[in-house]
Amino acid sequence: MVLQVDGLNKSFGDKAVLKDVSFQLNTGEILAIIGPSGAGKTTILRCINGLEKSDKGTIKIDGAYLCRDHNNKITYATSEEMKFIRKRIGLVFQNYNLFPHMSVMENIIEAPINAFGIPKVEAEDKALELLNIMGLTDKRDSYPFELSGGQKQRVAIARACALNPKIMCLDEPTSALDPELREGIANIIEDLAKDNMGVLIITHDMAFAERVAHKIIFMEDGKIIKEDSKDDFFNNLKDERIKRFIT
Ligand SMILES: Nc1ncnc2c1ncn2[C@@H]1O[C@H](COP(=O)(O)OP(=O)(O)OP(=O)(O)O)[C@@H](O)[C@H]1O
Ligand SMILES: [Mg+2]
Repeated sequence: MVLQVDGLNKSFGDKAVLKDVSFQLNTGEILAIIGPSGAGKTTILRCINGLEKSDKGTIKIDGAYLCRDHNNKITYATSEEMKFIRKRIGLVFQNYNLFPHMSVMENIIEAPINAFGIPKVEAEDKALELLNIMGLTDKRDSYPFELSGGQKQRVAIARACALNPKIMCLDEPTSALDPELREGIANIIEDLAKDNMGVLIITHDMAFAERVAHKIIFMEDGKIIKEDSKDDFFNNLKDERIKRFIT
């Protein structure tokens, strides 16, 4: 198991946004979290990537605790431990968050060099390998404004892969893509999983979840309502809350 989330709670002010959320992700598995707007999906991603602090609960990434409950109080990894954890989890934001003033190559090698001290030559070799996989070799010196939505997204995935993470998180990976590009991203996600990454996708796109996920979690109002293998999920859609969302 590469990710374990147990009893996660998070409030903003007095609004509880995550209520006792627990789930697991295995190596090689593709998990899709779906649910209505405001359900708390992005907040989960932000918590497991350490961008938001949880109020309560345990998050364990590749054997290391990002946070854990201890005597009813949450304790977080030290900054040294955090460095180990950050390396093991990649995140692709909905709007990709590329650095606009940096070229494609510079975007990909920035964190390996500056945050992790990897020699420039090594970081560039890895970046070229990833650009090749993403079909973007000829864009290495382009700037984000010169790229299409699908190209920006692939650069963002390449950047998130640069540190060989064990978990890849993607927030709404298909929202800006036409059908052909959606199939391309489905293939890339499947390759990541075959490469022994655990992949966590957040999506409104039911057809995409059905296409690519192995397991599906449906969330509403900060809670997990249903968690199932893809086939069982789509074969048994009796819950009114899920029906409402799907139809
Ligand atoms: N920084 C914040 N401060 C206050 N409230 C927040 C903050 N971030 C999120 N929220 C609230 O938390 C709830 C869950 O937000 P979240 O972004 O996780 O939803 P989501 O499921 O990703 O929705 P969408 O499908 O629209 O992206 C919403 O009610 C949102 O307004
Ligand atoms: Mg969201």
